[in-house]
Amino acid sequence: MQNFDFYNPTRIVFGAGTIASLARLVPQTARVLVLFGGASAEKTGTLAEVRQALGERFVQEFGGIEPNPSYETLMRAVEQVRREKLDFLLAVGGGSVIDGAKFVAAAADHEGDPWNIMETGGASVTGALPFGTVLTLPATGSEMNNGSVVTLKATHTKLPFRSVHVFPQFSVLDPTKTYTLPEKQVANGLVDAFVHITEQYLTYPVQALAQDRFAEGLLQTLVEIAPRAIAAPEDYATRSNLMWTASLALNGLIGAGVPQDWATHMIGHELTALYDIDHARTLAIVLPAVLDIQRDKKRDKLLQYGERVWGITAGSEEQRIDAAIAATRHFFEGLGIPTRLSAYGLGMAAVNDVVGQLGAHGMTRLGEHGDVDLALSRAILETAL
Ligand code: NZQ
Ligand code: ZN
Repeated sequence: MQNFDFYNPTRIVFGAGTIASLARLVPQTARVLVLFGGASAEKTGTLAEVRQALGERFVQEFGGIEPNPSYETLMRAVEQVRREKLDFLLAVGGGSVIDGAKFVAAAADHEGDPWNIMETGGASVTGALPFGTVLTLPATGSEMNNGSVVTLKATHTKLPFRSVHVFPQFSVLDPTKTYTLPEKQVANGLVDAFVHITEQYLTYPVQALAQDRFAEGLLQTLVEIAPRAIAAPEDYATRSNLMWTASLALNGLIGAGVPQDWATHMIGHELTALYDIDHARTLAIVLPAVLDIQRDKKRDKLLQYGERVWGITAGSEEQRIDAAIAATRHFFEGLGIPTRLSAYGLGMAAVNDVVGQLGAHGMTRLGEHGDVDLALSRAILETAL
């Protein structure tokens, strides 16, 4: 096992009816900014519940945070926070709203150009406003981690940042709040959580037995619940498991002490920034190709994954790896999520453009060995055609 420093201070309040607990979770004297996305939070009644729980506190609202939140939009929220001297943020939504709140929290007191937060990957963040979240879409794990992804629309630049200062103080996870999700977003959530686990698991063995078994258990849980998560939107048990599994997939626990990949995510971010393909859908395109191209370096874990997650034990090593990749592809396709660039009408021109953007963003040493240079990214994208 590798050395690690595991820290996760986010309180999780889980279950039906838990939005009411905002009454005790948000400080009484806080000057609150509630952040949300488009129409869903209002339409589903979640915002009304939030307003009621906040009671007599001083509350302002900022709506309109788009999927793949933009720097341009978030800076308007930063201006509101500064102007109105707001001191506590509450994100109500999915990963985009929560990531947006993290950026606003970090940018509010940031000295100099806030885009610097993104350019330094969060290293320039020296403090942040306190914030909590009400999660409405299980997928990203943002509700229980210190990462955020923000897009500068003007240049199609989608970059991640991390900082110890942007862990949510608390997150309210009420599985009934996911009942209104469109089927497509549930499928996206299953795939995003799945790939968060593979990014931390499908690398090379370091004798991290518990991390491996946790990761395999979470992957198996996603595979097991997927059909009912799609077919039975109001099945509380299924949605509870989906919500908690997605949080556990990226809260630091399974990634402690193990090598991590993240090449799929970094290549996927370019696809979203250029072609506006949903985050999870980009991962479904890239992951099978990454596993194929990196099959020699990932050989031991691919065989372990095939056997323990998919029950693949027959055939030569190459055949078992092929079968494991095919099972992964089949799982995504079965959720209605394509695994090829061609499904989005993208071909060689897109490969060239994505490689160009990876170069422009310094994404030239990706993967658990830092060996995914632009040539290898090109090979991955060509395999995904
Ligand atoms: O905008 P509204 O109207 O609210 O609709 C949203 C949005 O259109 C809708 N929605 C959310 N909850 C709903 C609902 N509709 C009905 N009922 C509900 N209960 O769903 C749509 C998608 O929402 P979004 O927040 O964009 O989705 P997701 O949670 O998948 O977040 C994606 C973003 O998270 C980033 C991605 O890059 C992307 O920008 N990620 C963040 C990570 C992190 N912080 O750790 C890790 C991930 O890898 C990911 O990169
Ligand atoms: Zn993701």
